Amino acid sequence: MIMMRFTFPLKKDFIEGDSSFFVVITEKSHAEVEKIIKVEELTKFFGEFAAVKEVSFEVERGEIFGILGPNGAGKTTLIKMLSTLLKPTSGRAFVAGYDVVKEPQKVRQNIGIVFQEPTLDVELTARENLDFHGRIYGMDRRKREKRISEVLELVGLSDKADVLVKKFSGGMQRRLEIARGFMHFPKVLFLDEPTLGLDVQTRRNIWDYIEKLRRDEDVTIILTTHYIEEAEHLCDRVAIIDFGKIIALDTVKNLKERIGKDTIEISVNGEFESILRKEKLSVVRTAESLVLSTSDGEKLIPKLFSLAQEHGVEIQSVKFKKSSLEDVFVLLTGRRIREESASHPMLRRIRR
Ligand SMILES: Nc1ncnc2c1ncn2[C@@H]1O[C@H](COP(=O)(O)OP(=O)(O)O)[C@@H](O)[C@H]1O
Ligand SMILES: [Mg+2]
Repeated sequence: MIMMRFTFPLKKDFIEGDSSFFVVITEKSHAEVEKIIKVEELTKFFGEFAAVKEVSFEVERGEIFGILGPNGAGKTTLIKMLSTLLKPTSGRAFVAGYDVVKEPQKVRQNIGIVFQEPTLDVELTARENLDFHGRIYGMDRRKREKRISEVLELVGLSDKADVLVKKFSGGMQRRLEIARGFMHFPKVLFLDEPTLGLDVQTRRNIWDYIEKLRRDEDVTIILTTHYIEEAEHLCDRVAIIDFGKIIALDTVKNLKERIGKDTIEISVNGEFESILRKEKLSVVRTAESLVLSTSDGEKLIPKLFSLAQEHGVEIQSVKFKKSSLEDVFVLLTGRRIREESASHPMLRRIRR
């Protein structure tokens, strides 16, 4: 596959006048097919309220691309626009080469979606749910049967094919929803909070299946999450979204490197922030603490104590952490991702 990029300033008369440049153009458009998703200044207003604001990004074919942000950040709204369920207010988006507004049918044929809210028919068996989905996508019987076995195998539910879905645990239902999402061989699979409300062990189990899916099927996965570990564990690249805007987008490694290696979180009795700033330290105040980022935490901790002593400030607690995407979020926004997510109503609804 040719992945070279040509960025010549191509003037129209230049193209027509020199046939050698036709080759260049062909290769460029070929390379662009590898961008399975292109989003250009996508915006969604609900009345006066902008849920998604001028979001732009591109996704390479075969990537697991994460959209990480707190509850209400605009993740579902963004996914719904990309999957043609919501019309953007402005901006453009292309999925598998098709315009989500102008060619919604083409987009739908090429995508699978697993919604945040469960949508399985619990009165049917796993097989019946999948079969119904295959019919909607016009798959003939033989193709459906073959594919049902494949997808059930992929999510480890082969022996549960004929069990009613209402007998499934929350984790099994999620796996079945994921299986259904890629039943019709989509090029792009959207997973909206795939492990929302599941316990840690079940979540890890779902991660394994998502990774297996990427290995075994030719599919690009876009997933939203407010679980930091999920984004870190699964995603090649992550867009961090807050109040409808992308505030950072990079590989997990690069995002972490951006903030320095370590984070020290201290709670103090007294004014300490301005003192730390005078020392040219990178510090952010959160509701209950001060968060410092540094490339050498071991050296900074004793310095913090001597500074505190010098200024008559009492350090009440110290937490020393390896860097994570949570810290990236805190440093960019002064808030934690989970603070606003803890009371999400879905957490009460989904149980294992
Ligand atoms: N249909 C709607 N009408 C009005 N506001 C909405 C609608 N859908 C979502 N919102 C608002 O848009 C914001 C983003 O919501 P959503 O995309 O669901 O966020 P997330 O999925 O990141 O939790 C929230 O403030 C939400 O209340
Ligand atoms: Mg959501």
